[in-house]
Amino acid sequence: MRQKSIFITGAASGIGLATALLFLKKGWFVGGYDLDEKGLTSLQDELQQNGTTAYLDVTDKPAFDDAIASFSKHTDGHMDIMFNNAGIALGGFFDEIPFEKIMLMLNINLIGVVNGAYAAISLLKNTDNSLCLTTASSAAIFGTPRMAIYSATKHAVKGLTEALSVELARYGSRAADLLPGIIDTPLWKGDHFSGGKSIATFEAIPKRNVNHTDASRTLDPAEVAESAWQAYQGTKLHWYIPEELEEQDKAKLHSIEAIRDQKIAEILQ
Ligand SMILES: NC(=O)c1ccc[n+]([C@@H]2O[C@H](COP(=O)([O-])OP(=O)(O)OC[C@H]3O[C@@H](n4cnc5c(N)ncnc54)[C@H](O)[C@@H]3O)[C@@H](O)[C@H]2O)c1
Repeated sequence: MRQKSIFITGAASGIGLATALLFLKKGWFVGGYDLDEKGLTSLQDELQQNGTTAYLDVTDKPAFDDAIASFSKHTDGHMDIMFNNAGIALGGFFDEIPFEKIMLMLNINLIGVVNGAYAAISLLKNTDNSLCLTTASSAAIFGTPRMAIYSATKHAVKGLTEALSVELARYGSRAADLLPGIIDTPLWKGDHFSGGKSIATFEAIPKRNVNHTDASRTLDPAEVAESAWQAYQGTKLHWYIPEELEEQDKAKLHSIEAIRDQKIAEILQ
């Protein structure tokens, strides 16, 4: 029987790494791609002959095409899951973040996903029941103040995934996204800007939320990896992590102005 395969961006850390290790355990062939070469070397040690790793900047489309072509040589032209996961989180008020940092976030979190989905189509088409999986966020439900661009990229990724979940049916392929809440990963070390300068990081958030018991509690990346596994077995389009975020996030859609007004009050305090 053919060994199933997954191509993962942002595989050297956090959610991507946890997903790589889970799929390895399930007997899949894992392609891990990232900017972090040290992290990739240690992932390759785990994967051995059941995987391949390589440096890939997801914003570089020709490099993405090359990485997919090289992955394809290991998998005989198949790809069961394309996992567009790499992302960064920088924050602060929209007009206080340096413009080049805004463009960097757009390029990695959105253009990187477009590059990956586009580059992977021919292998997905060639593989029965394949899945184009993306990591959006619970920040894709209501635009997040002080993370406006991050949140905008995640809304866009969710919208792209919904549209692809219909279009890819032409090839017998699927699309789904993961909508994680607060996950304990180095993502939160991203800069928080004020007046164009980095003044802090978001690291306090996962630390503080460890004590929460509701849907805002801090989770281990292994829980997101488990949802990636479920997404391949299941038929849902959006995978909320933790599950109870679904009800909470959907309720927001019925009280958008009330949420806006509450957030304005918080900002003006
Ligand atoms: N951590 C959370 O709470 C959380 C919540 C919702 C969504 N997410 C999303 O999950 C995804 C994974 O993030 P994580 O939490 O595992 O963070 P992480 O920082 O642990 O991992 C992200 C990985 O992406 C890599 N990366 C960054 N820029 C890249 C580029 N240009 N090309 C290739 N790789 C690049 C980094 O080197 C890193 O290894 C992101 O899209 C993030 O937005 C995270």
